[in-house]
Amino acid sequence: MDRGKGQLKLGMFLRPAGHHLVAWRHPQSHADAGVNFRSFVEVARIAERGLFDMLFSADSATASSVFDENGLRRMHYVAWIEPFTLMASLAAVTTHIGLVCTASTTFEEPFSLARRFASLDLVSGGRAGWNLVTSGNHTAAFNFSRDEHMAKHDRYLRAREFAEVVTGLWDSWEDDAFIRDRESGIFFDPAKMHTLGHRGEHFKVMGPLNVARSPQGRPVLVQAGASDDGKELAAETAEVVFAASPTIEEGRAFYADVKGRMAKYGRDPDDLKVMPGFYVTVAPTQAEAQAKRAALQDLIHPEVGLALLVQRTGLDLSGYDVDGPLPDVDPEHAISSRATLLSDMARREGLTIRQLYTRIAGGRGHYDICGTPHYIADVMEEWFRTGAADGFNIMPPILPAGLEDFVDLVVPELQRRGLHRTCYEGTTLREHLGLRRPENIHARARKAAQ
Ligand SMILES: Cc1cc2nc3c(=O)[nH]c(=O)nc-3n(C[C@H](O)[C@H](O)[C@H](O)COP(=O)(O)O)c2cc1C
Repeated sequence: MDRGKGQLKLGMFLRPAGHHLVAWRHPQSHADAGVNFRSFVEVARIAERGLFDMLFSADSATASSVFDENGLRRMHYVAWIEPFTLMASLAAVTTHIGLVCTASTTFEEPFSLARRFASLDLVSGGRAGWNLVTSGNHTAAFNFSRDEHMAKHDRYLRAREFAEVVTGLWDSWEDDAFIRDRESGIFFDPAKMHTLGHRGEHFKVMGPLNVARSPQGRPVLVQAGASDDGKELAAETAEVVFAASPTIEEGRAFYADVKGRMAKYGRDPDDLKVMPGFYVTVAPTQAEAQAKRAALQDLIHPEVGLALLVQRTGLDLSGYDVDGPLPDVDPEHAISSRATLLSDMARREGLTIRQLYTRIAGGRGHYDICGTPHYIADVMEEWFRTGAADGFNIMPPILPAGLEDFVDLVVPELQRRGLHRTCYEGTTLREHLGLRRPENIHARARKAAQ
């Protein structure tokens, strides 16, 4: 597949001090970044200078999925500013970049989520996106009055209905419903207000939403979840998929798989952008890039390495030799597609537990690339042109320095190749991503009936 002259999409995957497990220990990162709003502002502004399509934030409603103090006390990602609050605040200090925030269908209610995201779209002038997750971390359940995490298939059944309610609520008001006619005293046209009246398996939601239709019509719907159920939901509903593909072959297979499922929902493959995570270490020369990478790897204490693996695989590794092999993950009972991915990686490459945690301490199973700007642009171009990605969620090892490197070194190389914009052509996230603004379903029905 050759994409001709199209341009790739860029997301900046936020993480307080950076993506590396011990980024906070690096002298060039901010150790307190998770509670330092100014530090997030700095990152957002650098990403906007690099003309990124969006900032992307992951989230989970728990400090950690493991509570082994020895490992946990070394982790920087256990406590930080709640990302929706963060995105809403960043909306005020940025002008173009999209703001995509993760929120869980397992622990939230559709009405309040629809209301929040429509509001983010309004305050940001059409830059909001919702990353729909069903939540992999089982300990989040204990924070929501539950004794156990809902089974994965059931989570996806709930997620499907959840997405249907949210998108229905976003169409509560037609674009021109609010006439605000001072003369007649009529504020809105009741014929253009629509009550959802949803009664389903999981939710009963009357509506309408008490937020007007937002600039993008609907915030962009992003999805992260790579199991069969996850891919099916993405094919049916998502406009961006955040993927984790450790090799280009897996990237291509995932891409073809998700896009191949769209036709049965009457959707065009171009209506969904696949954006895998890319953990990028870049420097002017290969030797400098490798030295940068090694400096971080040397800061990993085995306790924190082990805690990362336990968190990601759900395996109980107590009593295992870190220089021995990883026990197998049973795909039937894996906590997530990521657990299977890591276990496959260890088996395929014959990695010990220590080698595996060192290997994923930065990218956590996402594609991990280290080298010169030219080399990195070559690889991105290959992924883009051969059907493995429509764009990338960039994961800098440390922040803000790693992002600055990417913007100063890789972005000009991508622009030189015509693969990245040289100015923002539009103002909304949909315009950046080349996604259509969805028509209000009620307005469409009325037009069709005329
Ligand atoms: C690339 C990727 C990113 C994810 N990000 C999050 C996240 O930020 N928060 C969360 O609770 N779950 C996240 N998930 C988990 C999924 O929402 C899902 O609940 C879990 O992985 C199980 O589904 P799966 O097997 O379909 O991946 C992510 C999954 C993937 C594949």
